[in-house]
Amino acid sequence: MCGIVGYVGKKNNCTNFLLEGLKKLEYRGYDSAGIAVANDRNLKTVKKKGFLRDLEPLINPERMKGSPGIGHTRWATHGEPSDENAHPHLSCEKRLALVHNGIIENYQELKQELKLKGHHFTSQTDTEVIVHLIEEHYQGDLYDAVKKGVKELRGSFAIAVISADDPDLLVAARYDSPLVVGIGKNEYFIASDIPAILKETRKVIILEDGEIVKAKPDGITITDFDGNLIEKEITEITWDAEAAEKGGYEDFMLKEIHEQPQVILNTMRGRVKEAKIILDEIGLPRELLKRLERMVIVACGTSYYAGLVMRNAVELFAKIPVDVEISSEFRYRPMLIDGRVLVVGITQSGETADTLVSLRQAKRVGFPILAIPNVIGSSAAREADGVLYTHAGPEIGVAATKTMTAQMVAGFLFALYLAGIKKTISDERREKFIKELLKLPRKVEAILDREDEVKQMAKKYKNYNNFLFLGRTYGLPAAYEGALKLKEITYVHAEGYPAGEMKHGPIALIDENVPVVFIATKGEVQDKIISNMEEVKARKGKIIAIATEGDKKVADLADDVIYVPWTFEAYTPLLAVVPLQLFTYYTGKLRGLNVDQPRNLAKSVTVE
Ligand code: F6R
Repeated sequence: MCGIVGYVGKKNNCTNFLLEGLKKLEYRGYDSAGIAVANDRNLKTVKKKGFLRDLEPLINPERMKGSPGIGHTRWATHGEPSDENAHPHLSCEKRLALVHNGIIENYQELKQELKLKGHHFTSQTDTEVIVHLIEEHYQGDLYDAVKKGVKELRGSFAIAVISADDPDLLVAARYDSPLVVGIGKNEYFIASDIPAILKETRKVIILEDGEIVKAKPDGITITDFDGNLIEKEITEITWDAEAAEKGGYEDFMLKEIHEQPQVILNTMRGRVKEAKIILDEIGLPRELLKRLERMVIVACGTSYYAGLVMRNAVELFAKIPVDVEISSEFRYRPMLIDGRVLVVGITQSGETADTLVSLRQAKRVGFPILAIPNVIGSSAAREADGVLYTHAGPEIGVAATKTMTAQMVAGFLFALYLAGIKKTISDERREKFIKELLKLPRKVEAILDREDEVKQMAKKYKNYNNFLFLGRTYGLPAAYEGALKLKEITYVHAEGYPAGEMKHGPIALIDENVPVVFIATKGEVQDKIISNMEEVKARKGKIIAIATEGDKKVADLADDVIYVPWTFEAYTPLLAVVPLQLFTYYTGKLRGLNVDQPRNLAKSVTVE
């Protein structure tokens, strides 16, 4: 996600702090950067697409001398990476400057209203509406204007705002997006993440949702959005800089596993309204979707498994056949697909060479293309006819964890959206599935609460060198993903297989040295899975089961069980992969491996 820094205080030149602070957030990934400072009752702004090294030469130290100041590294969500879309954004009169993290769901409505009131917009971002909204409320008191403005916003935001007319004031607010205040001596620092300010201070106040801070060199006040004063505790940060980048977690992989409840919310944000899925943003005509007869999904690795999850959901809800193809195979096969087909590319990076070529080939012969990328403005996004972003935020660990979860959520949203257009599902049934979707973040949290149990299990199995992961129907993609994660992070041989196929070969492998992980959650084929477990047990195999909360039958058969909360069968892979990610993480750690950067792997595979 984007990074925010801000400063108010005794330094009459805060540019250095802003740049240094932003540099500390570079590890998170970004596509553009910018700063603004108040100087001589004017605001001076520099912003640029690219990296901080592209921005720095544009900063004239004399011109950009000043305080207070704000800075931003942007990871695009609305509007592609460009100079205009970079933050800070300015009000019409250029008297207010603002930086923002998050997504404003009602920005279209607000933009219309503000345009009617005469505001002029210069970017495609959702962020720009906030600064105009605050300008609309501004009558000489910046804090008051922010307080009024934030009440009209829907979505997530951490913002920092300065005014040319109040050179001793910085106002910041948060809702559903992190923001901290660093406390210095007659100076205050604002940041979205602690690493940005650690060099300046270790004393911080962590803002909660619905809080606004009004910071001046001689002190700060924190209130809620109604202006009621809030007493806050000061926290002393003891982490070193490296731990701070990882939010206190030992590794990015673990941090990203823990981010998943929030990621699910972010991917759904603005897309679920009153039990309806609103995805008109993807840019594919409704008529095309209504007449769709078939889908072909192309993807690689973990994204391919997310494609299998999406297939199952589309077939269930929208009732059209879906093929899922490995991109590197699809691209060399004759393009025999025919009819009203939508070709979907799932790729978190948006740059995977095989997936891009597959999409281009399908486009060349006339099929409409939908991309499901995580990176805004990536090649897949630029070349597709429609785009459904996953909004997982940058993933630093090489292994896909939170991006797969976001891909699955995007797949569910699309399947329900398509079903709504094609009227293949009753309103009542769709509503039930949407309501359950909204419960998934809490259910993932419940699994993360069991982290210690999974860690103990990893201790027990850490020295085994071969694993089988078995599942059927809805559970199968989770089995495939569990095996892939274990292979790539721990270098242990693991195979994902349809449990029904076990008898046709893999059963020969089973003995006491090959633990078998079953995705044994409740569902239509659970009896069959239980029979497969019996078969393994009869051959002295060790069984680890992922089971639905309270399922005694599975627990009695398994040597070890990890419970996940109940959910609809179509959604089970989203819950089942979480303990498998943790199992992999701890096995890798116990084997002394670098879990964030496994050998031989790259985050984005841009070559064939
Ligand atoms: C596994 C993993 C890879 C990617 C694959 C596709 O943890 O990260 O298998 O899923 O390389 O990458 P994207 O989604 O960028 O196309």
